[in-house]
Parts: sequence; structure tokens; C-alpha cells
Amino acid sequence: TYVVTDACIRCKYMDCVEVCPVDCFYEGENMLVINPNECIDCGVCEPECPAEAILPDTESGLEQWMELNSKFSAEWPNITTKGDAPDDADDHKGEEGKYEKYFS
Ligand code: SF4
Ligand code: F3S
Repeated sequence: TYVVTDACIRCKYMDCVEVCPVDCFYEGENMLVINPNECIDCGVCEPECPAEAILPDTESGLEQWMELNSKFSAEWPNITTKGDAPDDADDHKGEEGKYEKYFS
């Protein structure tokens, strides 16, 4: 499966939603997550994310984000069409510590 990491927080560009063939993204207030049970590992979303927030779970050190994707994809609503990114999305691109600062 592919995993949305904290780099998505407050960027939420949603280009990923447009390309996913199985519509397995779920929407929270500040970020999206992928449902690991639905993702078919096609990889097309990874290069589409301007924040480079999406990674394959074969990369090391993603445990925290894998857990977060798994948990919240079961709670948040499914999103199938791209909406508008936040006005200040670019200001938060590449920012460190976004989970601690903004995720609640
Ligand atoms: Fe969707 Fe493919 Fe990305 Fe999985 S890897 S979330 S199936 S676009
Ligand atoms: Fe987030 Fe990137 Fe999608 S910022 S909403 S994972 S395009």
C-alpha cells in the first residue's frame, strides 16, 4: 500500500484524489489518508503530490503514518473528487513538525 505522510498536513492539494483508480482516499480537516485495504499499490498518486507526501510502505520509518492512515481511513469520509487546496497550502509545503503543530 501507499501511505500519506505528515507532509500532506495543511497542504491538502488533492491531486492524488483525481488520479486514484480505486478512490481510496479519505478526508480529514487538514489532510487526506489512504485506506490500506483498498489501495491496489498502483503508485500513480505518488508523483502527483506537489508536497511529496505520498510514499510506498516499503520505505522505512513510516510506522506512525501507516497507523494513522489505517485508523482514520476507517473514520473519515471517502473523497472522490478534487476540491480546492487551502489558500495558504504553499506556505506549509515542506514545513517541519506539522503533525505536532496542526494535527488534532
Ligand atoms: Fe490509489 Fe494507486 Fe495511490 Fe493506492 S497507489 S492510493 S490505488 S493511486
Ligand atoms: Fe495531500 Fe498531496 Fe494528496 S498534499 S491531499 S497527498 S496531493
